[in-house]
Amino acid sequence: MQPVSRRQALLLGGLGIAATAAGSAGLIWTLTSREPFVTGSELTQPPEERSTNGQLQVRLEAAPGQIRLAGRPAAALCYNGSSPGPTLRIRAGDVLKIMLVNNLAQATNLHVHGLHVSPEGNGDNVFIAVEPGGTFDYEYKLPRDHPPGVYWYHPHHHGMVADQVFAGLFGAIIVEDPEPIEASVERVLVISDTTLDTLGNIPAVPVMERMMGREGELILVNGQSNPQFTARPGQRERWRIVNTCVARYLRLRLDGQQMQLLGMDSGRFPAPETVEELLLTPGNRAELLVTASTGDAVLRAFYQNRGSMPGMMGPGFGARSPADQPDGAALATLRVSGEPVASPASVPAQQALGDLRSAAVAARRQIVLAVGMGMGGGAGMMRFTINGKEFNEARTDTTVAAGNVEEWTLTNTSPMDHPFHLHVWPMQIIEENGQATKTAIWQDVVNVRANGRVKVRVDFRDFRGRSVYHCHILDHEDVGMMSAIEVR
Ligand code: C2O
Ligand code: CU
Ligand code: CU
Repeated sequence: MQPVSRRQALLLGGLGIAATAAGSAGLIWTLTSREPFVTGSELTQPPEERSTNGQLQVRLEAAPGQIRLAGRPAAALCYNGSSPGPTLRIRAGDVLKIMLVNNLAQATNLHVHGLHVSPEGNGDNVFIAVEPGGTFDYEYKLPRDHPPGVYWYHPHHHGMVADQVFAGLFGAIIVEDPEPIEASVERVLVISDTTLDTLGNIPAVPVMERMMGREGELILVNGQSNPQFTARPGQRERWRIVNTCVARYLRLRLDGQQMQLLGMDSGRFPAPETVEELLLTPGNRAELLVTASTGDAVLRAFYQNRGSMPGMMGPGFGARSPADQPDGAALATLRVSGEPVASPASVPAQQALGDLRSAAVAARRQIVLAVGMGMGGGAGMMRFTINGKEFNEARTDTTVAAGNVEEWTLTNTSPMDHPFHLHVWPMQIIEENGQATKTAIWQDVVNVRANGRVKVRVDFRDFRGRSVYHCHILDHEDVGMMSAIEVR
């Protein structure tokens, strides 16, 4: 055990979170390396690149880098030397050009998660592989009516996605509002998790943990552990949250402060919704307004039971049970003090994404997510399948006629949750475990509970081409829980 320095003790005391919260981040008290983890430092923002005159052109270099994670030196993978990589700020109608430079020792590629853009050619094409030393010029043309919101980018080279994301390859994309929403400050909060050994390396993840979906020992916001920031009472902050974790579900609460949800993933609710709690499964994003009231508030992630492996009692290997993960890990701390300010202007009416509940459905499909024993049994032999099959790049599993609205029933026959993600075309949830939804809820990652069922509708009115749908527990995607779709 390493003694806590006077400065750290003061910091922790000052934050009023002392032993439990600091310990719950897994830090401080158990260090064996020379450099301690740091919690409670001032929140930093990833670097930003902003479009001008309808275009943003960036060079994105994926390479190993020596950076700091939770304040400690770490050997990670970075975009342009940082993790998260740069935040890309664009607008509907823009052209985004990304030159991906691969200076990793393995193949990679790039996916723009949630953007409604073409999957063909040098667009959002996950079938492209960029070999070590290679480069690729991606070009994404956003439609004029592209929904505003927070999106993100990450590698998508099948079989290596989880490891590359876990090592630090991800960044936020923001599609700006057509009409600005008044806020005192805007903060991008990219949440990730990873594990560092005593030398600052990210250790290989055992197969059993991959099967359950790995959860890192550190939960980070912009690479920091429980960073803090300040506001004055009455100020309205805008938070853009991305869950980039490979497998961790984030059940978020912000005690003592009002959270208003503008929308999840792509699109907006017609009016902001006041929420107490927010579940972000891997890949999900949230657009929040937080109106500060006096006192500190800690953004915390609570334990979410996401089931177990077949044939096991309780949480499977690799899953953090309430027993081994102190509940309510502190992710970030908002300190509110000073003179109150006048309340900000009301939020302008938001353009909702429409409603397919009364649309004519041209085709209905069954999508079955399953986990079963493969040949020989044993955890290493588990099969993660969609409609009985593991991913095969050469096979197209679903062919859709362009222009149609389809209804998909997502059925999970396994005892663990799977967050289901479809590229390019957002999904409207119309029924969850037998209950019809009361409002138009659009998401691009939809959680399908253990032994649960969700019905979604998808409008394939624009963009043809080949893409994928998969479980966004990236370990599951890598072992085959993914299918190819072609719209033509
Ligand atoms: Cu965020 Cu196919 O991925
Ligand atoms: Cu995606
Ligand atoms: Cu899964």
